[in-house]
Amino acid sequence: MTLLPSRASLEDDAAFAAFSCLATGTPSTPWLEEVENYVRARVLRVPDLHVLAFRDGDELIAVSAFYESEIELPANQPAGYPAWHLEVVAVAHPRQRNGVGLEVLDHTLSVMRDISPDRVFVVARAHLKNRASIGLCAKRGITPYVPSGTYWVMVGDLRAQ
Ligand SMILES: CC(C)(COP(=O)(O)OP(=O)(O)OC[C@H]1O[C@@H](n2cnc3c(N)ncnc32)[C@H](O)[C@@H]1OP(=O)(O)O)[C@@H](O)C(=O)NCCC(=O)NCCS
Repeated sequence: MTLLPSRASLEDDAAFAAFSCLATGTPSTPWLEEVENYVRARVLRVPDLHVLAFRDGDELIAVSAFYESEIELPANQPAGYPAWHLEVVAVAHPRQRNGVGLEVLDHTLSVMRDISPDRVFVVARAHLKNRASIGLCAKRGITPYVPSGTYWVMVGDLRAQ
C-alpha cells in the first residue's frame, strides 16, 4: 500500500466527517470516542493547526494534526523551549495494527522537522489506558513524562530519531 499524505482543509470535510477509528459494537471508550468526534467535527476548524490526511487511493485511512507549542523542562528547574504539540494520530479502524500508524507518525514528525528544524521537542497527551497510542509514540521515543488527570503528558525529542 502507498499512503498519499496531503495537507487537509475544509474541502476534505465530507471525508473527515465519515472517518471512524472505532470498531462498531465495541464497549464505550470515551477517550477514543473523543478522538473520533474530534476528527469528524473539529480538527479542520481549529485555527493554526497543521492537519494531514493520508489516503489509499480515494479512501481516507488516517489523520494527524499538530501545532506550535512550548514545553517547560526540566521539571525541577523549568525553562521554556519551542515544541510541537502532536494533537492527534488516528487510523481508520479496519486499517489498524498494520503499520499505518507508525508510517503516519514518521511522516508527521518529518513534516514538523521540515517546517521548523529548531523546534525539536514533541509533546503529546495520551489517555492512561490508551495502550495503542502510548505504544505507538514509544516507537519514536515519545514517552510518558508527567501524569495530568487521566492522561499522560508525553515528551519526545526530534533530534533522537
Ligand atoms: C493509536 C493508533 C493510531 C495506532 O495505529 P496503528 O496503525 O494500529 O499502529 P501500527 O500498526 O503502526 O503499530 C505501531 C505500534 O503501535 C502500538 N500499538 C498499535 N496498536 C496497539 C494496540 N491495540 N495495543 C497495544 N499497542 C498497540 C504497538 O507498539 C505497535 O508496534 P508493534 O506492531 O511492533 O507492536 C490507532 O490505534 C488509532 O487510530 N487509535 C484510535 C485513535 C487514537 O487513540 N489515537 C491516539 C490518540 S490521539
